[in-house]
Amino acid sequence: MTAAALAGTLPKHASHEGISRMAPPRAQRVLIAVTGGIAAYKVPELVRALVRAGHAVRCCATHNAAQFVSPLVLQTLSGESVRTQLFDPEQEGEIDHIALADWADLVVVAPATADALAKMAHGIADDLVTTLLLATRAPLLVAPAMNVNMWRHPATQANVATLRARGVAFVGPESGMLACGWEGEGRMAEPAAIAAEAERRLGAPTLAGETVVVTAGGTREALDPVRFLANRSSGKMGFEIAAAAARRGADVVLVSGPSALATPAGVRRVAVESATEMRDAVAAELARCTVFVAAAAVADFRPAVAAKQKIKKEALADDAGLVIELVRNPDILAEVARAPGRERRLVVGFAAESEDVLAAARRKLERKGCDLIVANDVSRSDAGFDVDTNAVSFVTAQGDETLPLLSKREVAERLLDRVEALRAAAHDEPR
Ligand code: C5P
Repeated sequence: MTAAALAGTLPKHASHEGISRMAPPRAQRVLIAVTGGIAAYKVPELVRALVRAGHAVRCCATHNAAQFVSPLVLQTLSGESVRTQLFDPEQEGEIDHIALADWADLVVVAPATADALAKMAHGIADDLVTTLLLATRAPLLVAPAMNVNMWRHPATQANVATLRARGVAFVGPESGMLACGWEGEGRMAEPAAIAAEAERRLGAPTLAGETVVVTAGGTREALDPVRFLANRSSGKMGFEIAAAAARRGADVVLVSGPSALATPAGVRRVAVESATEMRDAVAAELARCTVFVAAAAVADFRPAVAAKQKIKKEALADDAGLVIELVRNPDILAEVARAPGRERRLVVGFAAESEDVLAAARRKLERKGCDLIVANDVSRSDAGFDVDTNAVSFVTAQGDETLPLLSKREVAERLLDRVEALRAAAHDEPR
């Protein structure tokens, strides 16, 4: 497919003035997992607060939780059916439990009993709720509620420490009169406080209405059915960008070469192998795309022919080497930057350079027609391929900004801050 063919994927009206440039915002999705404590009676308030804030809310409850709060109440307030069982064909038919785990941008466990904390800490999945908690990749926010002695028990405290070390966030418990008659720590945080903490974890939906397409990972260029040319890209940077964009409420499509990384919460992943597959997958998303981020390490060349059968050394003379002819791959970034509808789209590229980084990045900005280039010095061992940190500079027509060494997650956040600023400036421009 050529740039012209890429253009052909755009709907006819896409370049017209005056049409809505943005898809309707995608609500951030909160799954509330209710476990069996008396504080479950307060969960309807939490559901209402989150629905009022504009979030899509779904609930699931353990068998015991359903004794304390009616699933019908939760269903009425959330507008979604409430799942309580793992092996109910009817419930599983509506949305299967893995789809529900994948659906969430954030999972709130409220109330979380001592038993639920223990199961979470040990990876036990013996009912619907604990299975969801093990299956989801969304961040977890936990609101414990229990008797003060259960809370203080070394077993519970060790479980909390284990969960915290894994990045699970806690809100409460608070001190006060407990339902069991004891006074002390163990009361579930108030629904408003849990909702506020959930909002903070979700982040502001500053990219709601944007469709962000991110390429990530390396590509594989086939030599024959069993061999390929590849590179060392892990995909970490692109996956962090996709995850951060989803947290900010964007619709996110992650077009990824082979990568062992888990798909981030709220992100649609399109798996590809070769550069041409990646280009076709990007082309299929381009009509809706408002922000394109090319974080993939795309192979510049591919074998001119991919042999149908395994190449056999016996077919060559004993001392003969094998010569492979390579042809150029499409430059996906440059094609997207030239495709029609460009004025509706922000285009971000990466430049991995080993010398004269900023000057090389500026040349790339102009040559490829991007709005922003993220330049990194791959001669450093703590930046670039397959490490968790990156040292980058942002290069735009307006100037450069060099950031210190940061985690890739933090680089992704800073990049999206830049993207938002550039989008805001583009919207303000007279049309
Ligand atoms: O030309 P170079 O490979 O240095 O450009 C790097 C940038 O271009 C990255 O953003 C990369 O994802 C993108 N790229 C692409 N298609 C290619 C080669 C690079 O999208 N064939």
